[in-house]
Amino acid sequence: MNTRAEDGWNAGDTYETFMGRWSRPLAETFLDWLDAAHGGHWLDVGTGSGALAAAICARAAPASVMACDPSPSFIDAARRKLADPRVTFTVAGAGSLPRRDGGYDAAVSGLALNFFPDPSLAIVEQLDAVRPGGLVGAFVWDYARGMEFLRHFWDAAATVEPRAAEADEGLRFPICNPRRLESLFRSAGATRIRGAALSVPTVFSGFEDYWRPFLGGTGPAPSLVATLSEEQRAGLVSDLRRRLGAQGDGSIALRARAWAVVGYRSSATPR
Ligand SMILES: C[S@@+](CC[C@H](N)C(=O)[O-])C[C@H]1O[C@@H](n2cnc3c(N)ncnc32)[C@H](O)[C@@H]1O
Repeated sequence: MNTRAEDGWNAGDTYETFMGRWSRPLAETFLDWLDAAHGGHWLDVGTGSGALAAAICARAAPASVMACDPSPSFIDAARRKLADPRVTFTVAGAGSLPRRDGGYDAAVSGLALNFFPDPSLAIVEQLDAVRPGGLVGAFVWDYARGMEFLRHFWDAAATVEPRAAEADEGLRFPICNPRRLESLFRSAGATRIRGAALSVPTVFSGFEDYWRPFLGGTGPAPSLVATLSEEQRAGLVSDLRRRLGAQGDGSIALRARAWAVVGYRSSATPR
């Protein structure tokens, strides 16, 4: 369920070209769906290269954002990318979240919940970190089906390397499912839970634009590619070219779906 050493969460800049370019529009879509009150104090858990923190600044007019991640390399990259006086970046993660006197108004995570060591405990911890009535929200990729560019990757990778079946995020992260997410939030004690499917277009200018980011070594799929032989890589590329197809201009137009969930700390809960 959780992060493994081989997931390679240590290269903020490489992550940006692999996933950050898609997590940024998705984070904005999430904020629009959340429709939270402006002026709040936010906690972004697993900020990575800062996509969700940037979207909070762009869409929610926050009073402050505390953005944390256990990876110092990600925090460095995020600091370089987002210089906003309302945002503080800090090295910390689920299990030892930064706290705020009086609680945050909102504690959120983007594409990260499934990588936490214990997602249930992480939601309990986030509910505890917000004020009574505060919100806790998350979105995760629909790895099993709707995250198309990774789905094609894992299906193709399984044809050249048996270990791919075990690393396939669609199997590895059963929590990335709307019913499971809502049940996780319910068990943690959240109230007024609602969920949604959010999706963004992922359009690649050509096969190179799709494939090159897989060579960066950051995240489960690129980490698997880093272990493949030349022969396996060639087989994978050829299978992917066949699966992906291309438009007349060479571009590859896919979509990526995520599952979003939000719940609230009961107003009656004493701190
Ligand atoms: C797929 S990235 C998502 C990054 C960013 N939120 C985004 O939407 O692009 C997953 C992130 O979870 C972080 N992570 C892993 N274990 C964590 C933990 N225990 N607590 C908080 N973040 C964690 C990783 O370092 C990585 O930055």
